[in-house]
Amino acid sequence: MSATNQPPLLDVRGLTTEFVTRTGAVAAVRNVSLSVRRGEKVAIVGESGCGKSTLALSILGLVDRPGRIAAGEVRLHGRNLVGLSEREMKKIRGNVVSLIFQDPMGALDPIQTVGAQLIDTLRRHQPSLSHKAARARAVELLREVEVPAAERRLDDYPHHYSGGMRQRVMIAIALANSPALIIADEPTTALDVTTQAQVLALLERVVANHGVAVLLITHNLGVVAEFCDGVQVMYAGRIVERGPTEAVLAKPTHPYTQALLESIPDPSRRGDRLRAIPGMPPDLSAMPTGCAFEPRCFHGHGREICRTRQPIPIAIETAGGPSLVECHFAAERAARAGEITAS
Ligand SMILES: Nc1ncnc2c1ncn2[C@@H]1O[C@H](COP(=O)(O)OP(=O)(O)O)[C@@H](O)[C@H]1O
Ligand code: SF4
Ligand SMILES: [Mg+2]
Repeated sequence: MSATNQPPLLDVRGLTTEFVTRTGAVAAVRNVSLSVRRGEKVAIVGESGCGKSTLALSILGLVDRPGRIAAGEVRLHGRNLVGLSEREMKKIRGNVVSLIFQDPMGALDPIQTVGAQLIDTLRRHQPSLSHKAARARAVELLREVEVPAAERRLDDYPHHYSGGMRQRVMIAIALANSPALIIADEPTTALDVTTQAQVLALLERVVANHGVAVLLITHNLGVVAEFCDGVQVMYAGRIVERGPTEAVLAKPTHPYTQALLESIPDPSRRGDRLRAIPGMPPDLSAMPTGCAFEPRCFHGHGREICRTRQPIPIAIETAGGPSLVECHFAAERAARAGEITAS
């Protein structure tokens, strides 16, 4: 579904989240802006440590000390969530926006049955719902996420479920109060490959049935290609490239995106050789003054401008729509790749 003519559901503007350490504050999310429209599915990709989870937690007001949002806004349905009390945020979490973590065991309460947790979630946001009605709805939700023998399994504890089934329960909990947005942070990374595929296919189906928007943090490019309308590429706390999925995956403009895609297995390009990105993401407490990717960049390494000046986002017009690329050479690279540069 194309949702490009609707106002954004989620509108993150200039968000900076930092962790205060003994040696000073380190910004894990640096001046990030992104938007998700109603029903839109947006992927966030990037190496480990690039700030993806911190961004997701910041959106939901879940960054714990020593972390804090230092600047920016998180607008949901136009309302800025930054600075809201925990009481206000609790009304929003699980209701307007839900989060699915990588590790369902960490998110589920081990000493409560799955049914009790689903019923709690339902009644927290719908207090007028009777226990009986909530239980009936909980069974429906477990059926929807294809947990076999749903009625009986409601009374089981999380440890009675397999990893894949637990993640299905998390999807059911996330869906319980019909949120407008689900943020899924590497929801299948801890599962075996077959189970990953099944859980992702299920997520795709339920999301389509409910018309819910998704911000999906993932390393699975097959899923990004098939499922997501747009991609945001994160490096050292910034979004360095964003655009329509096809454009970003088929013709990446930022050297980091290109290197990242070459380093992740893509089921649609079986046989391609994987190339690890040389070096490591920068130490956030000692950021380079210029482009954060410069020490690893095959295009800009050693160039004066890359070493000394932080690139600003450059708009690129692609066949699939506009992209933004934070690289001094974005226009040149896009022109070479056959894209049209807008500014
Ligand atoms: N609790 C914390 N305390 C201090 N620094 C943290 C904490 N959590 C994350 N960070 C910093 O934020 C960076 C980004 O982490 P994270 O958001 O988990 O990245 P990703 O999800 O992309 O792997 C880490 O490399 C680390 O420097
Ligand atoms: S600005 Fe320079 S170092 Fe950074 S990605 Fe672009 S070419 Fe590479
Ligand atoms: Mg993470």
